[in-house]
Amino acid sequence: MPSKTKAMKDLLIFAVKFIYGFLEALFHWVVPKPKKNVAGEIVLVTGSGSGIGRLLALRFAHLGAILVLWDINPEGNQETCDLARKAGASRVYTYICNCSERQDIYRVAAQVKKEVGDVTILINNAGIVTGKYLLEIPDECVEKTFDVNSKAHIWTYKAFLPAMITNNHGHLVCISSSAGLLGTSRLSDYCASKFAALGFAESLCFELFAQGYTGIKSTIVCPFFIKTGMFEGCITENPLLLPILEPNYVADKITNAILEEQVYLFMPRFLYFALFLKSFLPVNAALALCEYMKVFEVMNCFTGRLKKE
Ligand SMILES: NC(=O)c1ccc[n+]([C@@H]2O[C@H](COP(=O)([O-])OP(=O)(O)OC[C@H]3O[C@@H](n4cnc5c(N)ncnc54)[C@H](O)[C@@H]3O)[C@@H](O)[C@H]2O)c1
Repeated sequence: MPSKTKAMKDLLIFAVKFIYGFLEALFHWVVPKPKKNVAGEIVLVTGSGSGIGRLLALRFAHLGAILVLWDINPEGNQETCDLARKAGASRVYTYICNCSERQDIYRVAAQVKKEVGDVTILINNAGIVTGKYLLEIPDECVEKTFDVNSKAHIWTYKAFLPAMITNNHGHLVCISSSAGLLGTSRLSDYCASKFAALGFAESLCFELFAQGYTGIKSTIVCPFFIKTGMFEGCITENPLLLPILEPNYVADKITNAILEEQVYLFMPRFLYFALFLKSFLPVNAALALCEYMKVFEVMNCFTGRLKKE
């Protein structure tokens, strides 16, 4: 019967692709993937005025990319621009963009398309945190956290994806967080915004695959705390399993993941296991483990950037 033959054929194709997927991953565990060449690519980094955004800009400057730097802080962004030029970038364009405002994103995106060209690597990195118990967070702060940490990703995709689709070429990078994988205390709005960013980036990754745009890659990054100042004061009681990460280490790992077109990057590796535990542990057992590891205490001494100013 033709339908039976088709079902068998579909099953066979699925089995071959499924096994190939495993073998390919195993192979690349041993032999690293070849790195793509990003010289001449137009790389946009949001939140490039400090921290991880700045370090990523410097990595891509070194790799010969054309840089488009967006930040709300013009001084920090200019410093990144100067450093990027020193690191070898010949074309660096800075823009003041308030990523919490959709219209500002669309306005600056139109300017970039006119003055620089079509962005081919989009790194959504700008982020903010309030770091309080939910009932202490002013509503405007909750809204702003979502505007910068998640909604800005949607507007930047809408601005730059059409050209990527036309050329079936591009790379979409979402800087989410370990807080986008596992909810925790005193970070409710931040966690929710990072879950949203991850969910959006993952959905678009699959949507583009389903539409056949295999030339547009996605990378979703979930780091634990990094020593950039954003989470100043935070501590870890488990420096072996959950160390506070060095910014340069994080920037190197993200750059490598982009060059190797890796979809998920969680840092440290323990996060992969933590996510696996979450998928099957009874809630009370998971809570006992969190208490034992003092997970709910990491924000107790948080000061962050806002309180210092
Ligand atoms: N630092 C950490 O511990 C940590 C951990 C996990 C994930 N992350 C994420 O990594 C990313 C980078 O964090 P970081 O540690 O480098 O932070 P950072 O504070 O050093 O840098 C954030 C940058 O975003 C810019 N920015 C803030 N609001 C903006 C807005 N409305 N429009 C445009 N730019 C704006 C800031 O000016 C700053 O230059 C963020 O998305 C953050 O949520 C950070």
